Amino acid sequence: MKKITKALFPVAGMGTRMLPATKAIPKELLPIYNTPIIDVLIEECMEAGIDEIILVTSREKYLIENYFDSFHELEKKLAKKRDFERLARIQKFKKIKFSSVRQGEQLGDGHAIMQAKHLLGDEPFLVIFGDDLTFGTPSSVAQLLQAYEKTQHSIIGVRQVPRETLSSYGVVAISGNSDLEAISGVVEKPKIEDAPSDKAVIGKYVCTSEIWTALENAGTSHGGEMRLIDGFEIMLEKNQQISAQTISGERFDAGSTKGYFLANVFMAMKSGEVSKDEILEVIKK
Ligand code: G1P
Repeated sequence: MKKITKALFPVAGMGTRMLPATKAIPKELLPIYNTPIIDVLIEECMEAGIDEIILVTSREKYLIENYFDSFHELEKKLAKKRDFERLARIQKFKKIKFSSVRQGEQLGDGHAIMQAKHLLGDEPFLVIFGDDLTFGTPSSVAQLLQAYEKTQHSIIGVRQVPRETLSSYGVVAISGNSDLEAISGVVEKPKIEDAPSDKAVIGKYVCTSEIWTALENAGTSHGGEMRLIDGFEIMLEKNQQISAQTISGERFDAGSTKGYFLANVFMAMKSGEVSKDEILEVIKK
């Protein structure tokens, strides 16, 4: 069995849902309480045994590359001050190998992934979008990896969402109701009445090497973009198996202002630094 050791993050997008904050700051670097979103996601990967991260960035998103680069002067300063806690925080990804490739034009997440084909070859790999957060045990990444170990094929992470929100997502067609189900079809942003289930795609996937040929044949679709989900649709047409793993844990769409805010409240309380009473005190004012 081919082990998954790499995770790809398509982070070239402009983050328009989070404007004006994202005019100058990549949405993936906005902090959830005290830690940037992408830091939270990559830590989850690291804890699940991933040791290589591939970032697909763009001209405007170079700050993400800087964030994962070492910062010698700052490290020296913190060491001198014996501030080992902060030093450890900024050095925590030293064991991970980072590569980054640029997506010159924002032509969709499928197109973004294609830019890293030469770094992945025929290995299976994770794809994690930089705006959906789930907190649970096991983590979402661990759940995806377990599903891959069981099935040995591509996995789409899904989540039951309120029916009225289904048109904002890719939706999978499945026949049963267990956590791991074979997918018979995928529909990108369906009309509510056409949605094949209430299980939405939440930007967490395991891709096997069949995805490359599928994406090469995908062309453009929804919104004139080349999407990963179009690649999965082609794989299904060719009878290549894909399963849906329902991801458990608290979930936040941190790419929307409301989800971002709620994720902050959740993380603040999880940190133990802010109590429920303190939050209620603010609400009362
Ligand atoms: C993309 C995918 C969609 C998925 C969503 C999750 O859409 O195409 O299938 O449900 O991410 O965030 P986007 O939100 O980029 O339009």
